[in-house]
Amino acid sequence: MKKALFVLTSVMALSAVTAFAAPKPWVVGFSQIGSESEWRTADTISVQNAFNDDPSFTLIYSDAQQKQENQIKALRTFIARKVNCIVFTALVETGYGPVLQEAAKAKIPVIMIDRDVQASDRALRLTIMGSDFVKEGEKAGTWLADYLKKQGLDDGKKAINIVELQGTTGSAPAIDRKTGFANILKQHANWQLTRSQTGNFTTSEGKAVMEAFLKADKGIQVLYAHNDGMALGAIQAIKEAGLKPGKDIIVVGVDAVKGAFEAIVAGEMNATIECSPLLGPQAVQAVTDLRDGKKLPARIWTIEGIFDATNAAAALPSRQY
Ligand code: AHR
Repeated sequence: MKKALFVLTSVMALSAVTAFAAPKPWVVGFSQIGSESEWRTADTISVQNAFNDDPSFTLIYSDAQQKQENQIKALRTFIARKVNCIVFTALVETGYGPVLQEAAKAKIPVIMIDRDVQASDRALRLTIMGSDFVKEGEKAGTWLADYLKKQGLDDGKKAINIVELQGTTGSAPAIDRKTGFANILKQHANWQLTRSQTGNFTTSEGKAVMEAFLKADKGIQVLYAHNDGMALGAIQAIKEAGLKPGKDIIVVGVDAVKGAFEAIVAGEMNATIECSPLLGPQAVQAVTDLRDGKKLPARIWTIEGIFDATNAAAALPSRQY
C-alpha cells in the first residue's frame, strides 16, 4: 500500500513537472479581410489549418467582413491582448499607419500576408509574404500578346479592344495588377483599354459590370479580370448577351481557382494567372523563425504558374483550391 502510494505521488509529481515544463503556446492574431472570393476562403482555411495543427501556437482569428474599420478594431484588440505576433492582410493599402505604430510601440511584430500596406508604412511591419501582383498583371498581358499572335488576331495595326474588371479599389492586387497589365499594354500601340471599372473581386459585381460594358460596347474583344471570380461572373454576362466567352471575347483572369480551370477546359475562358492562396505553411514557418530569433527576409515570394488550354486539363485533378 505504502509502495503504491509512493508510485502514485511520484507520477503526480512528474506530471506536474512536465506540465510546468511545457512552453506556453505563442498567441498569434490573424486579421483577415473577409470572404469575397473562392480564393479568399482557401487562403483563410490554409492559414487557420497551418496554425491550428501546430500545438505550439494559439490562433485568434478575426474576419473584417470587407470593412477597414473592423480590421483596425481587430488589430487594436490583438494589441490589448498582448498577442505574441500579428499576421495581417490589408484590405486596402492606406490608413493603417497609426494602428501599426501602436503595434510597434507595444513591441508586437507584424507579418503581412497576401496584401501589403503602402510603401511609407512598410517600415512598421517585418515582412510581406505572397505574390508579385505587378508580375501577375504583366504575365496576363504577355500571355495575351502571345495568344493574339498565335491566333493571327493581332497585325499590330488594327485596334484590339480590351476591357478590364478591377479588384477592390485601393487594394494592393488591384493597383498592381492594373500597373502590370498597363506595362505590357504600353508596348502595343494598337491595344486600347476602352473600359476599366471595379468589380470588387466578387463574382456578382463582375457580372453586373460586364453586363454594363456589353450594353455600352458591341466591339469588346478581350476581358482582363483582376481575379477569376469576376471573370466567371463576366462569362455568365457574356453568355446571357448571346456571345461565346473564350471565342467571341477572350477572357483572362488571375488566381487559378478550380472554377477557372473548369471554364478553360469547357473552352469558355482562355487563361488564368496563378496566385496561390495556400499561405498557411509559409506563415507558420515565418512566425516559427521569428520565435526562434531568426531574421526574416523583407520579402517572401510565392512561386506561381500560368494555365490555359495547353495545360489546364492535366493540372485540374491536383488543384487544391
Ligand atoms: O489579394 C488576393 C486577391 O484577393 C485574389 O486575387 C482575389 O481573388 C482575392 O479576393
